[in-house]
Amino acid sequence: MAYNLLKGKRGIITGALDENSIAWKVALKAHEEGATFTLTNAPIAMRMGEINKLAEQTGAKIIPADATSMEDLDKLYKESMDHLGGKIDFVLHSIGMSVNIRKNIPYTELNYEFFQKGIDVSALTLHKMLAAAHKLDALNEHASVVALTYIAAQRVYPFYTDMADIKAMLESIARTFGYHYGKQKKVRINTVSQSPTKTTAGGGIKGFTDFFDFAQQQSPLGNASAEDCANYCITLFSDLTRMVTMQNLYHDGGYSSTGVSAEQLMK
Ligand SMILES: NC(=O)c1ccc[n+]([C@@H]2O[C@H](COP(=O)([O-])OP(=O)(O)OC[C@H]3O[C@@H](n4cnc5c(N)ncnc54)[C@H](O)[C@@H]3O)[C@@H](O)[C@H]2O)c1
Repeated sequence: MAYNLLKGKRGIITGALDENSIAWKVALKAHEEGATFTLTNAPIAMRMGEINKLAEQTGAKIIPADATSMEDLDKLYKESMDHLGGKIDFVLHSIGMSVNIRKNIPYTELNYEFFQKGIDVSALTLHKMLAAAHKLDALNEHASVVALTYIAAQRVYPFYTDMADIKAMLESIARTFGYHYGKQKKVRINTVSQSPTKTTAGGGIKGFTDFFDFAQQQSPLGNASAEDCANYCITLFSDLTRMVTMQNLYHDGGYSSTGVSAEQLMK
């Protein structure tokens, strides 16, 4: 059921790789709720062409951009404002990648070149997206920026290796930029800390399926799906949450507040 929560709003959605991507579901929901937006991803991620299907379904323009490149981001905002006909009201940062995780390198033996690449792609891209918008004055007052994160930023999940540290940095950037952008332009910036979700990025983590089941048992409501996450992001883009900023918001079916569940103890 649609509520027209984003009627008349203009957005930019990063990170829709295929139909499992959280960003893919956000795009579908944003379209249902009346928003117009552009879709973007790294040029290399577009070679399968999957994103074209989403663009067709949602009437969105695709603007390729490597989010680590300030030049690409500058072009992304300019072309988005041009195409959508004004400043931007919401931005989804849904970008994550760790070469150390991909290569199964344990935390105590991290490769630092890969670590730096992970920081650049998964955390600094949020800073860069915000800095590019700030410089161009591309966001409307009360615009909402949401980045996706994971609870390994607060507690140890050994298999999440360097992404734990990187997500801690991402959350800190959301808070600190949220202060400056909030003061200057009333822009709000939050992170959503999502349940384990079966996507390309999620599935790349060692032992993901076992952990997915463990979290499912621990969460009173069960794991939150990508579609649930999309619904939550829509509320954060809407005017109904216009005073929420600089928060790390758990979207996890109650997982983060549960020490242990009865089902886990019965095993
Ligand atoms: N899947 C999970 O279990 C889970 C849980 C919590 C948080 N998250 C976070 O959600 C976000 C989205 O991940 P997902 O699970 O939908 O997986 P996904 O693999 O579908 O999305 C990750 C996206 O990042 C994009 N990307 C990588 N490098 C890029 C670059 N240089 N420039 C632009 N885009 C780039 C990829 O092309 C891809 O579209 C990530 O930040 C991830 O850490 C995922």
